[in-house]
Parts: sequence; C-alpha cells; structure tokens
Amino acid sequence: MTTMESLIGLVNRIQRACTVLGDYGGGTGSNAFNSLWEALPTVAVVGGQSSGKSSVLESIVGRDFLPRGSGIVTRRPLVLQLHKTDDGTEEYAEFLHLPKKQFTDFALVRREIQDETDRITGKNKQISPVPIHLSIYSPNVVNLTLIDLPGLTKVAVEGQPETIAEDIESMVRTYVDKPNCIILAISPANQDIATSDAIKLAKDVDPTGERTFGVLTKLDLMDKGTNALEVLEGRSYRLQHPWVGIVNRSQADINKNVDMMLARRKEREYFDTSPDYGHLASKMGSEYLAKLLSKHLESVIRTRIPSILSLINKSIEELERELDRMGRPVAVDAGAQLYTILEMCRAFDKIFKEHLD
Ligand code: GDP
Ligand code: NA
Ligand code: MG
Repeated sequence: MTTMESLIGLVNRIQRACTVLGDYGGGTGSNAFNSLWEALPTVAVVGGQSSGKSSVLESIVGRDFLPRGSGIVTRRPLVLQLHKTDDGTEEYAEFLHLPKKQFTDFALVRREIQDETDRITGKNKQISPVPIHLSIYSPNVVNLTLIDLPGLTKVAVEGQPETIAEDIESMVRTYVDKPNCIILAISPANQDIATSDAIKLAKDVDPTGERTFGVLTKLDLMDKGTNALEVLEGRSYRLQHPWVGIVNRSQADINKNVDMMLARRKEREYFDTSPDYGHLASKMGSEYLAKLLSKHLESVIRTRIPSILSLINKSIEELERELDRMGRPVAVDAGAQLYTILEMCRAFDKIFKEHLD
C-alpha cells in the first residue's frame, strides 16, 4: 500500500459529502452531488429476512454490533465504511451524525443504530431511504464499504403498512439498479436456491451476473448427507464471480455470546476439515469474502476514476456558480459551508489525479 489515501477511503469521504449535500441525506438536493453519488461504486447487501445478512456483515467486521431481533430490524440503509488501521490504535466506530463521538463499546453502537433508525422512521416499523453512515476503524478489517439494506420480505407484520414488501423491494432496487452497484446476494444453503429472494432480484437487475457476488450461508444447517456443491461450483446458478460459502454463528452461539474472532476461526476450521468443501477451502469463509470484495471494489473504482473526476468537476463548477450568485466574499454560514465543500472537491480532484499517474 502506498502512503496515498486508499481509493476506497477516498470514495468513502466523497460518499459522506454527497449524503450531507444531496437528496440521499435529506440535504440540499444539489444535482451535481446526486449524479456523483449515483456514479460511485458501492457494495449493497441483499437477501431475504433471516438469510444471514447481519451475520455476514458482523463477521466481515469481526465485531458484534448490529441490531437483531425478529421482524424488520434494518429499516434504514446502513452505509458501513471499514478502514483498516495499522498504527496500534484501539478499534473504534464513528457515526456521521455524531461526528465528535468515538465509540469503543460496540453494544452502544448497536443501540445508536436502533435509536437513529427510530428517530427517522418512528417506532411503528416504517422504513426510510435516508442512510445511516457508520465508520469502523480497526486492524481486523479490510478497506471496504458495504451498504446493509432491509431484508426482502413477503408479508407485513402487525402495525406495518400493507405495502411494506413492495416498499422494501423498491428501496433495495434504487441501490442495485445502479450499474456501479456490486450486489452481495445472500442466500441460505438450507433453502432451494431457486426460491432465493436475493438471486431473483440479482437475476432481474444483473442478468449476466457480472456485478453479483453470490454468498451461501448456513452450510452447517444443511440436511445430513447433502451438500451445496451444485451451487458453490456454479452449476445451479452461474455467476461471473465464484460463489462464496459461509458458516456464521448459530443462534445458540449468539445466545452464548460467542466472540466474533473465535467464530471466524471456527468457520475457517469448518472449511479446512470439511470432506465436502475441503478442495474449495481457501476460497470460502467471511475473511476470504472481505478480501475478495475489497480487491474488486478497488479495481472497479480505478476504472471509474475518469467519470468520477468529471462529475467532481461539475460539482466544482456548480458550487462556484452558486457562490458567485451569492456574491463573494460570503460571510453567511451557507456560503462558508459551500466554500468548504468547494475546497474539499478540489482536494478530491487532486488526489484522484495522483492515483491516475
Ligand atoms: P438477516 O435477517 O438476514 O440479517 O439474518 P441474521 O444474520 O440475523 O441471521 C438470522 C438467524 O440465522 C440468526 O439466528 C443467525 O444466528 C442464524 N444464522 C445466520 N447464518 C448462519 C449460519 O451460517 N449458520 C447457522 N447455524 N446459523 C446462521
Ligand atoms: Na433468501
Ligand atoms: Mg439483519
């Protein structure tokens, strides 16, 4: 790794700026920022309820921090930005909406996600497209940004609007429809892959499978004497990228508070000693998945630098026009904020150009 900020880290910063400034964060709705947001490569996690989405995310992070429970737990998109640290500092988390607070207790991170979800959606289990941004700084992660989305569901529970299933699907689609979205499609191995909500949606928006990563959870829960080789070897449903099998913590492990790092080791052991999957062991498991996604995301961003740069320059022009309209020098808060953003865009422009050299 060079001394340069990682490309993924850089895109993270732009993503946060777009959230504050564009429609997606309920901000000013600047056109240039919305187009820029649309153009940034992202990884979206999709799957049916209880398919193992939260478990996969926690395993990738190596921490236990997501709200859990029955019903629709994830009701706002969670943009999870992972930053690998190697300076020996303690692991911590930070929310965009609480910029001055560093969380080292991950139980409090879980509570804050719940509270912040309720703050916008009310307690009546509505959903909202306004994302929560959470950054985690840790030596146990790879540089990666993942967006956790509400689980695809078929039925509303009491107190939820009748249209909840359609509402969730259309929210998920606003992410996976984007040609720059990498789809992390989660399906449980103990259900027929033909019925997987994640695969149905992925098939629809990415029929050639070039931007879909198939993840098969719950391998340990398959009936004795059966295995998932048909899926994992790409015979049941072929994707351009290889399928990754996962063994997450079971509900009993969660109840016993089995540590995430121990869970990672147990998962590794499962594959290393498996008679069915031994030949695939080095390409299975959540740590492998995290590395695979990080590498892929970085390479996708690299190919998109020219188009991202041109959108950043559009934003710069738009901001300059706006500032001119207000008349410079601008003393008022709004002007000062625009000016800061303009400086930030110029800095992004400069760093991206360095990456091109
Ligand atoms: P989500 O609704 O898609 O976020 O699913 P969760 O991650 O909350 O998982 C739902 C339930 O399935 C929990 O009780 C998990 O412990 C369990 N689970 C998820 N993945 C696995 C797995 O690979 N093996 C086992 N045994 N249980 C799993
Ligand atoms: Na599913
Ligand atoms: Mg979940």
